[in-house]
Amino acid sequence: MKALIASGGRGTRLRPITHTQNKHLIPVANKPILFYAIENALNAGIKDIAIVYNADSNDVPEYIGDGIERWGIKLTYIAQKTPGGLAEVVLLAEDFVGNDKFVFYLGDNMVVGGIEKFKKEFLNSNKNCWLTLSKVPDPNRFGVPEIKKGKIISIEEKPKKPKSDFAVTGMYFYDKNIFKACKSIKPSKRGELEISDAHQWLLENGFTIGYSEITGWWKDTGKPADLLEANRLVLDNISSSNNGKVDKKSKVLGKVIIEDGAIIKDSTIRGPVIVGKNCLIEGSYIGPFTAIGNNTQIKNSEVEYSIVLRDCKINNVGIRIEGSILGNDVEVVDANGKPRVHRFMIGDQSRIEIS
Ligand code: DAU
Repeated sequence: MKALIASGGRGTRLRPITHTQNKHLIPVANKPILFYAIENALNAGIKDIAIVYNADSNDVPEYIGDGIERWGIKLTYIAQKTPGGLAEVVLLAEDFVGNDKFVFYLGDNMVVGGIEKFKKEFLNSNKNCWLTLSKVPDPNRFGVPEIKKGKIISIEEKPKKPKSDFAVTGMYFYDKNIFKACKSIKPSKRGELEISDAHQWLLENGFTIGYSEITGWWKDTGKPADLLEANRLVLDNISSSNNGKVDKKSKVLGKVIIEDGAIIKDSTIRGPVIVGKNCLIEGSYIGPFTAIGNNTQIKNSEVEYSIVLRDCKINNVGIRIEGSILGNDVEVVDANGKPRVHRFMIGDQSRIEIS
């Protein structure tokens, strides 16, 4: 079995972070989202993996590399000229897949517990396609199945009136008939070859679709709130380790990872928290579900339930920073002197809430 992972698209809902960084490389608990997809494929015993990326940027291949050193496998890269839809992504991989069965994995999806169980169910089923479904409060954001007597009878993409409260999640299992389906459909109103239309084509043309329900945790990390939630869930499952230095005046409580070279001085860290390499945390409080990227400095400030990327500076901020995502190299510092003012240097499409 092979794996095809999508890492193209536009990432518009995560701007401004995605202006300068591919959304699949944004870290969750200090690990790029895309790593979780690759590692889930590997943990399911799949070693032949291709990654589709946006042809206008080499960010993903450059950052992830050939895979040999990190995972002991050689990754295949396939460029997509423009984000023409998920069925187009599948078609781009036809030569790579050949006659094998494969899992198509959306690189922005995260699932706790991996995909091995679904892989086995698919392989034991003799179905042409196996979908993974998850109950969601807002099915109109997703591909939605209609289910009768335990069988999927139709699938619609982002329907105004969803026929169930399930989302089709971004881990799809196929045999080679999916290529026929993707070649037979036409672009949707938004101009994309929709994967849901390919599934509907399979249903209408005598092919079989089975499914599993994901009863545990699954997230499409398309929006900032989803990223924070994914970060919370991954951090909830970490085990403590300390490769940095914590002085006597500091308290480290609960599950906390302190990476190489990080220094904690006169601070309280209440886990689950991960503090990246060479960070300096001084006179500060870092609260639960916070991930701090490498080389970041936090002084005399409080941060909780947030993702702070690498090389940031947070100094003397009077009010706790919460539910926030700070990109690489961001500074949040007090404005010196009188009158007391807020002073901003903010990139396009940023969002700031002040009180
Ligand atoms: O997350 C599950 C949902 O994913 C499904 O329920 C929907 O049926 C499916 O269409 C998809 O919906 P999204 O609106 O979330 O798709 P999005 O455009 O965000 O793309 C999903 C992933 O695929 C993301 O990692 C970017 C990548 N992608 C997307 C497109 C359109 C590509 O690599 N190439 C593309 O052309």
